[in-house]
Amino acid sequence: MTKREKHVSGAPRRNFYGRIKGKSLQKSQERYMSEDLEALKPKNVTWADNPDRNLIHPREWFEDDREIWLEIGFGGGEHLVHQASSNPDKGIIGCEPYINGVAMLLGKIRSAKVNNIIVHPGDARDMMDILPKETISRAFLLYPDPWPKTRHHRRRFVTPEHLEPLAACLKSGAIFRVATDIEDYVRQTLEEVHLNGNFEWLAESASDWKQPWDDWISTRYELKALRENRTPHYLTFRKI
Ligand SMILES: C[S@@+](CC[C@H](N)C(=O)[O-])C[C@H]1O[C@@H](n2cnc3c(N)ncnc32)[C@H](O)[C@@H]1O
Repeated sequence: MTKREKHVSGAPRRNFYGRIKGKSLQKSQERYMSEDLEALKPKNVTWADNPDRNLIHPREWFEDDREIWLEIGFGGGEHLVHQASSNPDKGIIGCEPYINGVAMLLGKIRSAKVNNIIVHPGDARDMMDILPKETISRAFLLYPDPWPKTRHHRRRFVTPEHLEPLAACLKSGAIFRVATDIEDYVRQTLEEVHLNGNFEWLAESASDWKQPWDDWISTRYELKALRENRTPHYLTFRKI
């Protein structure tokens, strides 16, 4: 696919370093993709392909003026569906370019029968480009790709080029949660979030970053980290 071709999300493809597709989808997953995805995608969007952002308020995708949350890189969707079913009064936008993950999420949405999720099967940067300022009340970044090599650290999500649009679309007082098992990612997150200047870290003692959030469910990547004896870190920030 060339850079200008559209991804399944409808947005022009951008320089994404991760995987878009893994092994072939199961028959049932292909069915979810063809039967369910279109209705769950954000409506009436002209994806911004340039700095002239074409903004759309996400309340147009939900029935009412509810609080809206954002999950960046939902993987297989376990946390997204868990939060959606525990918080039926919230609307949650999930972004994930990895199509196999999107297909897994669609299966979970069917089983859980939740109706408060919008699925952007693409890059969270596309979403942040079209969200007006101060629209999101909570954002989740759970086990982002670690990019362990020093020369790849700029590919990590927690960099100025992502934090700036994220901070812009979060409301004042909004919560931004980051979970990671990579100590150097913790370091980079604390440094970059501090440098961004729009957030305060809410930890008062070690238990605040060692203990999972009360409403937490382990994701696939967390379970893998635990199996491989890496320690999860749970960082909570508030937009000032
Ligand atoms: C290590 S996986 C973690 C998945 C899931 N959050 C979990 O904990 O199991 C990181 C995910 O982030 C997704 N990702 C990476 N960059 C992204 C971006 N710019 N927008 C949305 N998702 C992204 C990847 O496709 C991948 O599925």
